[in-house]
Amino acid sequence: MSLQEKFELLARMNREAEAGGGEERVAKHHAQGKLTARERLDLLFDPGTFVEVDKFVTHQCTNFGMEKTKIPGDGVVTGYGKVDGRLVYAYAQDFTVFGGSLSLTMSNKICKVMDMALKNGAPMVGLNDSGGARIQEGVQSLAGYANIFHRNVMSSGVIPQLSAIMGTCAGGAVYSPALTDFIFMVNGTSHMFITGPRVIKAVTNEDVTMDALGGAMTHNQRSGVAHFAAEDDRECIAEIKRLLSFLPSNNLEDPPFAPTDDPVDRKIPELNEVVPDNPNKGYDIKTIITAMVDNGDFLEVHAHYAPNIVVGFARMGGAVVGIVANQPAHLAGCLDCDASMKGARFVRFCDAFNIPLVTLEDVPGYLPGTDQEYRGIIKHGAKLIYAYSEATVPKITVITRKAYGGAYCVMSSKHLRGDVNLAFPTAEIAVMGPQGAVDIIFRKEIKAADDPKKAREEKIAEYTERFANPYRAAELGYIDEVILPEDIRIRVIQALDACRNKRDTNPPRKHGNIPL
Ligand code: HXC
Repeated sequence: MSLQEKFELLARMNREAEAGGGEERVAKHHAQGKLTARERLDLLFDPGTFVEVDKFVTHQCTNFGMEKTKIPGDGVVTGYGKVDGRLVYAYAQDFTVFGGSLSLTMSNKICKVMDMALKNGAPMVGLNDSGGARIQEGVQSLAGYANIFHRNVMSSGVIPQLSAIMGTCAGGAVYSPALTDFIFMVNGTSHMFITGPRVIKAVTNEDVTMDALGGAMTHNQRSGVAHFAAEDDRECIAEIKRLLSFLPSNNLEDPPFAPTDDPVDRKIPELNEVVPDNPNKGYDIKTIITAMVDNGDFLEVHAHYAPNIVVGFARMGGAVVGIVANQPAHLAGCLDCDASMKGARFVRFCDAFNIPLVTLEDVPGYLPGTDQEYRGIIKHGAKLIYAYSEATVPKITVITRKAYGGAYCVMSSKHLRGDVNLAFPTAEIAVMGPQGAVDIIFRKEIKAADDPKKAREEKIAEYTERFANPYRAAELGYIDEVILPEDIRIRVIQALDACRNKRDTNPPRKHGNIPL
């Protein structure tokens, strides 16, 4: 073979690998509004930086005549490149090749880049579009899944792992994403379920559509499995890149600093009016978040799930922070099972990746009721306590209004190693709200009074005067400073600065036992 022929052979093999499952299947894929694996990777990586690995690898299966159908790459494109100039590893499954189903070969390819990402301390992004285990391969494909799961677990807390669901992902195809830090879905085209509608019909006789069972909003809003919902593939990849811009490459690095032209000492007078006089009136905590962070840039995580707690990333004075905030506009900001789990998972992610936590607190307590008790509010609520308590990153808290009961303890209080604890003058810090407290401790006096209604009102006023303020906690040093709302940005940035070199550790142990 001449030199020229050798070069032409390589070009032909490249073309063959890049064709995936062929024109017809690619056209069908495009017609569904989906991009191909290679088109998705092109959007993810900076132009010209993607280096593909294992492009010519093929499967080794001989069952059911599979040896006659071998497609170079075997349904997944793997490699590494730069995203906004930073090293990232990725794989993208190609639905046009055997429905993106997972063979042992595909698993070996994915595991190879996962190992590289872990060894080189760079984020791993998986773009999933797969019908699950490759049925023709039997147990070998199950082994392939388990190999990936194990690597997901070993990488957890060492490198950020992001998963996008960009088609119908079934069976084993959903468990690797579930083990990663964040899941992105695409409205209309992506689904995730352990078994599809047909199997469900056969087993439980339930009728359910693909969308209702495992569509983007089902998992963003209802199950909480997914964290982001995009309108199409392009928006999905753009969101992945935006999230990466807040994350360090690994657990030994700090998150990327971005110098800001937003003055660190910017006063925000309009915040003085945000917390209403009437304690029963709600307000949108996001007004405070966006006003206080650099240039109002807040990336909300899990925006559609448990809206009574808001979590997400932003920068303050250029440094990345993780924000956790009770949302008085939903369920009065009460902590319920879902909000506790959402908050706890976010707190643990931030702690694992050196992202300081800024907590905004306005919470009347854990949500009472049989529904919550039966669902296990005790164990789910405990998760949030556990997460805050074990976190050693800088923890800054601002109590904007209510900090009642267990919720006072949990939301990054001084007693769970809060570093700087601030409060607005509107803060109310006590075991419970005035009405509830008075009905318990003054029940007998109120009943015996000539005018019980008046007596109750007097006791409520007395209790409110005594407890519905931040000053008892400030007297005890549980609150370091009572600040004006307009100073929140300055004070939080000063607190973050003061904790920049914080060192704190937990006792040595194999691992804790968070109440799962
Ligand atoms: C091999 C598969 C496949 C699979 C799809 N294909 N899934 N090949 N193994 N798991 C192939 C099809 O044969 C077809 O090949 C091509 O991919 C496209 O599939 P279609 O069915 O034509 O596409 P569509 O109508 O869009 O339906 C997509 C789908 C459906 C909903 C994903 O294919 C499906 O239900 N697949 C099986 C899903 C599933 O039950 N997986 C669970 C596996 S068990 P041709 O040649 O015609 O283009 C599992 C256990 C692991 O994963 C557990 C670990 C914990």
